[in-house]
Amino acid sequence: MKSILELSRAKREQHAIVMVAAYDALMARTVAEAEADVILVGDSAAMVVHGYPSTVHATVEMVCTHVAAVRRGAPEIIVVADMPFLTARKGVAAALDAAGALIQAGATAVKIEGVTGHEDVIERIVSSGIPVMGHLGLTPQSVHQLGGYRFQGREPAEAERLRREARVLEELGSFAVVLECVPERLATTITEERAIPTIGIGAGAGTAGQVLVISDLLGLDARFQPRFSRKYLDGHGLIRDAVTQFARDVRNARFPAREEVLA
Ligand code: KIV
Repeated sequence: MKSILELSRAKREQHAIVMVAAYDALMARTVAEAEADVILVGDSAAMVVHGYPSTVHATVEMVCTHVAAVRRGAPEIIVVADMPFLTARKGVAAALDAAGALIQAGATAVKIEGVTGHEDVIERIVSSGIPVMGHLGLTPQSVHQLGGYRFQGREPAEAERLRREARVLEELGSFAVVLECVPERLATTITEERAIPTIGIGAGAGTAGQVLVISDLLGLDARFQPRFSRKYLDGHGLIRDAVTQFARDVRNARFPAREEVLA
């Protein structure tokens, strides 16, 4: 897919949307070759790439650097960039500056967590010509307020709030919404109620698409494997074994071999 308009069509025609969170040029090229529809340059880069304990450490500069790298690796694909912590909360002008920087770095669209309290920001970004993806449910930038990385929308009042927020996002002109860690039944209801596509992570099988973080999908972190994610590769084990083999070969004078040497 080359444009966000195709995502709405995908939902209408019931083609599941595939989004992968990735952060660098080489991975972006590979993900694009693998026929993903969208690359999300998530603020999860702060944790996955930079080793911070949460996404609140991501900055506009950090996300821009990853967006530019991803865009160089995958010139054609739809790239959605996360608006980092508080950048949608300091008023319209500050939010436009952040969104503008992300678009100029190469993003097609921005993703904003939550909606209540910054409806004006979302509306202004959309009316400025920048597509906005919403993000509801477990919104990791609010981890301290949520009391940890917990499922959202289990209580009827919470579920009602999330349905209302999804409606507001659509009314404000968002083109899609990520639903993270909400019960499958609620995610399915929101998907049926809304015209815009829902993209789920830990939200069951009823959404219009799914997103996984590349390091989870590839099993790169042996210490972190969310239950709702699927490990398609034992990346950690494969990389560890490959580097161990390289180290042994060097120490035993088996690398480089004659055919690997320029005479
Ligand atoms: O930052 C991120 O990777 C995300 C996904 C988990 C949806 O927001």
